Amino acid sequence: MTTFVDLAAWLAAEPADAALKDVVQTVATTCAQISRVVASGALSGSLGAAGSTNVQDEEQKKLDVITNDMLSDALKGCAAVAGLASEELEQVEPTGRVGGYLVTFDPLDGSSNIDVNVSVGTIFSVLPAPADHAPAEADFLQLGRNQVAAGYAVYGPQTMLVLTLSGGVNGFTLNADGQWLLTHPAIAIKADTAEFAINMSNQRHWAPPVRRYIDGCLQGKDGPRGKNFNMRWVASMVADVHRIMMRGGVFMYPWDAREPDKPGKLRLMYEANPMSLLVERAGGKSTEAVIDILDIQPTKLHQRVPVVLGSANEVEVIRAEAKAG
Ligand code: AHG
Ligand code: MN
Ligand code: MN
Repeated sequence: MTTFVDLAAWLAAEPADAALKDVVQTVATTCAQISRVVASGALSGSLGAAGSTNVQDEEQKKLDVITNDMLSDALKGCAAVAGLASEELEQVEPTGRVGGYLVTFDPLDGSSNIDVNVSVGTIFSVLPAPADHAPAEADFLQLGRNQVAAGYAVYGPQTMLVLTLSGGVNGFTLNADGQWLLTHPAIAIKADTAEFAINMSNQRHWAPPVRRYIDGCLQGKDGPRGKNFNMRWVASMVADVHRIMMRGGVFMYPWDAREPDKPGKLRLMYEANPMSLLVERAGGKSTEAVIDILDIQPTKLHQRVPVVLGSANEVEVIRAEAKAG
């Protein structure tokens, strides 16, 4: 029988400081606990709406609130964390400590899928904290390239944790005893693909470059791309990105004209940035259209951004369309 390295042993061998490893272990342990709550569904009464809205005016599910509290409490108890920020919290929360790390997170991604038993996840990003003062919102507004760790947990047929710290991207599977075991070392995204992920119901609202790109894919062998494309859309970013990690593809949530003043649906600090670091470290690419997402200077904690990420050569095809205007 194959033996697998567990997360604690893997972390011990990583060339990162002990405090950062502590942060990652804290998030991982909490994600294992979240997995159990998500799996219990109706049995624990955790499905359905919470009856409240978050700062972005989205209806919160009970599980959005429960998972936000679980991660917030765990990170406040972690000696290496100076501050945290969440999709579900209006403002950043300092922990009372100075130095160490800042953590931003989407505690439950894909929450429209909870009540229909389709994969959801948790996304997190770790940034260095200022060394000489308690963090405020401005201290969180760092380039994605400053991230010192990022990852996601996907609660699907298997619960998996996909992480990057000092080097590449590694995938761990949760066993029945609550241990994370390294099952997918050195994940690499294929450079070429014939599979795209986009919410096609927004087609009439897209900008011309996105329309042209998708039109070209839909024409298949007879069109400009000369090959047939497949389409997938789970509507959980974690699940769509995980599929791309495993078999390649491109994921797009572009700007559209439904709410023209909003740059896109997804949030930079706790969705786009951590996923972009993972994708780049796995050999893929990630852009808002023209510039790399990791090079965007954030100006607001909950700011939104258009997202195109995945197989490197396909992202470049979309970037070329965007540059053509
Ligand atoms: P969240 O549940 O954290 O608000 O994020 C949902 C996001 C993302 O996971 C997914 O890719 C996208 O919303 C789906 O949007 P549509 O419902 O517009 O397809
Ligand atoms: Mn999300
Ligand atoms: Mn969420």
